[in-house]
Amino acid sequence: MTQKAYRSQIFHLLGDPQVDEAAYQYFKDGLLIVEDGFVKAIGSYRSLVKTLRATTKVKHYKNHLIMPGFIDTHIHFPQVDIIGSYGRQLMDWLQDYTFPAEMNFSDPKVCTQTANFFVKELLRNGTTSALVFGTVHEGSVDALFNEAQKKNMRLIAGKVLMDRGAPKGLLDGKDLGKAATKRLIKKWHGRGRLGYAITPRFAPTSTPDQLAMAGTLKKENPTVHVHTHMCENKDEIKYVGELFPQAADYLNVYEKHGLVGDKTVLAHGVHMSMSMCKRISKSGAAISLCPTSNMFIGSGLFNLSQLRRHKVAHALGTDIGAGTSFSLLATMNAAYSVCQLRDLSLSSMDAFYMATLGGAKVLSIDENVGNFEPGKEADFVVMDLKATPLITRRMKTAKKRLKAMLFAIMILGDDRMISETFVMGKSVYKKVL
Ligand code: GUN
Ligand code: ZN
Repeated sequence: MTQKAYRSQIFHLLGDPQVDEAAYQYFKDGLLIVEDGFVKAIGSYRSLVKTLRATTKVKHYKNHLIMPGFIDTHIHFPQVDIIGSYGRQLMDWLQDYTFPAEMNFSDPKVCTQTANFFVKELLRNGTTSALVFGTVHEGSVDALFNEAQKKNMRLIAGKVLMDRGAPKGLLDGKDLGKAATKRLIKKWHGRGRLGYAITPRFAPTSTPDQLAMAGTLKKENPTVHVHTHMCENKDEIKYVGELFPQAADYLNVYEKHGLVGDKTVLAHGVHMSMSMCKRISKSGAAISLCPTSNMFIGSGLFNLSQLRRHKVAHALGTDIGAGTSFSLLATMNAAYSVCQLRDLSLSSMDAFYMATLGGAKVLSIDENVGNFEPGKEADFVVMDLKATPLITRRMKTAKKRLKAMLFAIMILGDDRMISETFVMGKSVYKKVL
């Protein structure tokens, strides 16, 4: 058995601050003890140091803050090359930038090279788990899982299902993508820390037949996730109404096909009715909020008060490549701005919850990750509190007052603050100084 110990400021959440605002722990001089990749103990350095084995060396991070790895509940790995593409809203952005970029993934070399970059970029940003869209190509998902497996990451992904509304090279064939999805589930779901998500892109790019097939696959494989988009943009919603006139609303398209349950993650949910919120809440599905994306392609301002009122599970997603940053810190900043514009001040506790334990709950992986409860997998980030001259200066005025410090971090921070990232107790990224 190998024991490792990390001394630093340490912070993690124990529960939802909306339910219990005291559900967190902060140690100004803390110790995190990891055994064989799992959290053994967390506490003050003074109280825990005496429990260490004689042979265990303590790694001391001065002027740093250790916290659980970030969790990104919605991201597209094949879209790294179109981030920051100018001037369109969703439906045009898809046709002009996204679909042409995704066509390139018919080439296995593109799949491997992009997956390698993507996984590195997640870790460089302190993201240790994610729910990820591939492309329609089976090879894209194989490549991504291969790269994630090399780092032993807890990652969930799926091959996109689409059979209309896109160039021919991006459409599933006669079997509607069934055989490839089945192969990928068999090969990857539950292998190590990996999980599969059945991934119909969104209602406009699937025929009712394909959605029905996806629902049947979900029924046959109850432990896999379902991952799709919903209610992102007003033109998109109108178009779904035209394509599915018999459905009561956008959510109902997915409900009718057995795609809404406790392992369903719906990206965006910017424009939703009260009825939709109630039904999502009842089903146990969750919304991934993607503020940098919503602002970049002009989709709108999500309504956190409405989600809270109806107890709809939610967390944060970067939605790269409509989103503009891999960083969950930058995403928290954007979420704060969106809430301000809707007369709600998002607290740092709420934001960090969404980016860690709340994200784990949305992905149903909170038994494994999300905080430092003993027995959980030791995925964590070491954040540099002197990452930039401005952050150094601001941390002095925050004076280790936790909420002031966390808030300044989420407003000023990004990938520059990530000093080191650990996956199951193993260092997988270290900033070069
Ligand atoms: N809706 C359907 N596909 C996409 C996509 O790739 N990105 C975003 N933001 N929304 C979508
Ligand atoms: Zn998306």
